Amino acid sequence: MMSIRSEVVGFGHCLPEKILTNDDLSHMVETSDEWIATRTGIRSRHVAQDETTSMIAERAISNALQSAGLQPSDVDLLIVATVTPDKTTPSTATLIAGRLNFRVGVPAFDISAACSGFVYALTLADNMIRLGEVKTAVVVGAECLSNIVDWTDRNTCVLFGDGAGAVVLRALEGKGDSSDVGVLSTCIYSDGHLAEFLQTTGGVSTTKNAGFVSMNGKEVFKHAVVSLSEAAETALQKAGIDKSQIDWLVPHQANIRIIDSVAERLEIPAQKVIVALDHHGNTSAASIPLALSENVQNGRLKKGDVVVLTAMGAGFTWGGAVIRL
Ligand code: UT7
Repeated sequence: MMSIRSEVVGFGHCLPEKILTNDDLSHMVETSDEWIATRTGIRSRHVAQDETTSMIAERAISNALQSAGLQPSDVDLLIVATVTPDKTTPSTATLIAGRLNFRVGVPAFDISAACSGFVYALTLADNMIRLGEVKTAVVVGAECLSNIVDWTDRNTCVLFGDGAGAVVLRALEGKGDSSDVGVLSTCIYSDGHLAEFLQTTGGVSTTKNAGFVSMNGKEVFKHAVVSLSEAAETALQKAGIDKSQIDWLVPHQANIRIIDSVAERLEIPAQKVIVALDHHGNTSAASIPLALSENVQNGRLKKGDVVVLTAMGAGFTWGGAVIRL
């Protein structure tokens, strides 16, 4: 039976100019390049100075539209996944839609699902495309986490970075089976019982500010390995794709030890796993689209490749997707 699919026709990303290395951090808190690199795999991250989330997201979107050969006026839907919006209201998405001159009336909104934000946003956009509501959708993950990091807390400040990644989805007629091109499956989940393990210390309706990231690293680590593996398994099952058909695993970039454990559980060899956290750190909702865009640009990810995405973050939230590029 014929069915509509969401083909990924464009990729783009943007990173703030300033790079903060582990050595730089060792002058700010009691830490070392050795500790950060061996415990997390992170060596450097980008941090915003004058840039805001909407600014880097806008550049990522422009790059993605350019790579798709499309104009801002072609876009029917914009979803920005972020926990670090420019303003409490209006949404980052509407700010960008105005600046890029999207058509008046095009739905544009932000979603908050922390590090799973991109997979959540992709799921929403894919469903709207498959329902025939829209033809061309832009999905962005963008964060300036450096604004909600406590730069005196070595338990968290060494982990995070800023950046933005975007994809353009376009409706495409498919056969409705696992041989199709585009998003073959998505799945998203949450468990609010685990909210306290990864949260900010405040928010608009409590402390009247954004608060700072606070985390029980060991609990998050434990749940991350299980959730990331399960989301990938479920997405594969829903897509009807066997593990042997996977070309690339693109997991949320939080910790190399988490990524290695997930790859091992899924029996995916290391050479098929995309790692970008060494130079990005954990960029929350931006981590997966940043990794995708960089690796399309450098030629590792190619048309026709089967890519498995898997993400997990505060909430807890988690989810996965399978895409044939
Ligand atoms: O994006 C959402 C997903 N987020 C994650 O997935 C993060 C998950 N968690 C993790 O990645 C790891 O738990 C961390 C990297 C955060 C921590 O690694 P760990 O192996 O669990 O270390 P730990 O928390 O058990 O800390 C070990 C030691 C402690 O010292 P003591 O108590 O053993 O004396 C910490 O105080 O390392 C110390 N420590 C540090 N030392 C140097 C913690 N942070 C640092 C640091 N530099 N930056």
